[in-house]
Amino acid sequence: MANAIIVFGSTMGNTETVADLIAESLNHEVKVVNVTEVELSDIKEADLVLFGSSTWGDGELQEDFEDFIDEITPELVGEKDVAVFGCGDEMSYPDEFCAATDIIREKCEAAGANIVAENLRVDGEPEDSEDEITAWAEAL
Ligand SMILES: Cc1cc2nc3c(=O)[nH]c(=O)nc-3n(C[C@H](O)[C@H](O)[C@H](O)COP(=O)(O)O)c2cc1C
Repeated sequence: MANAIIVFGSTMGNTETVADLIAESLNHEVKVVNVTEVELSDIKEADLVLFGSSTWGDGELQEDFEDFIDEITPELVGEKDVAVFGCGDEMSYPDEFCAATDIIREKCEAAGANIVAENLRVDGEPEDSEDEITAWAEAL
């Protein structure tokens, strides 16, 4: 079975909940890891890499993911299958809704990753978007 790693940055726990929901629906052997604890070797060994970050400030990365983003290099994700997800608040931040997912995706594309899905943008409580999250994960 192919293996996947889900690396998330989450301040209040919402993106962590999404990471766990994705893991339940993936057709892979899967590891879910907080970005503060991830081993780069585990990312290098994965067939599929999923990066998740909520958006803070005004369209910025979650703080732990901010500390990690420059680790995304061609050596880490070049030619690897990658997809990006995150939580945000569309009503309060319509112009910067889940903007962190765009920042991560651009970084991965610049590093030569093979982006395999549109970014998953979860608005509000993850529990209200379970069907959308499950469908996104099952399609990977
Ligand atoms: C101070 C503050 C700034 C925020 N900025 C944004 C933003 O720019 N864009 C967005 O989509 N959501 C924004 N949000 C909403 C959070 O991303 C949202 O609450 C998310 O579910 C938090 O996920 P987490 O628990 O995984 O960190 C902001 C929330 C707060 C409190």
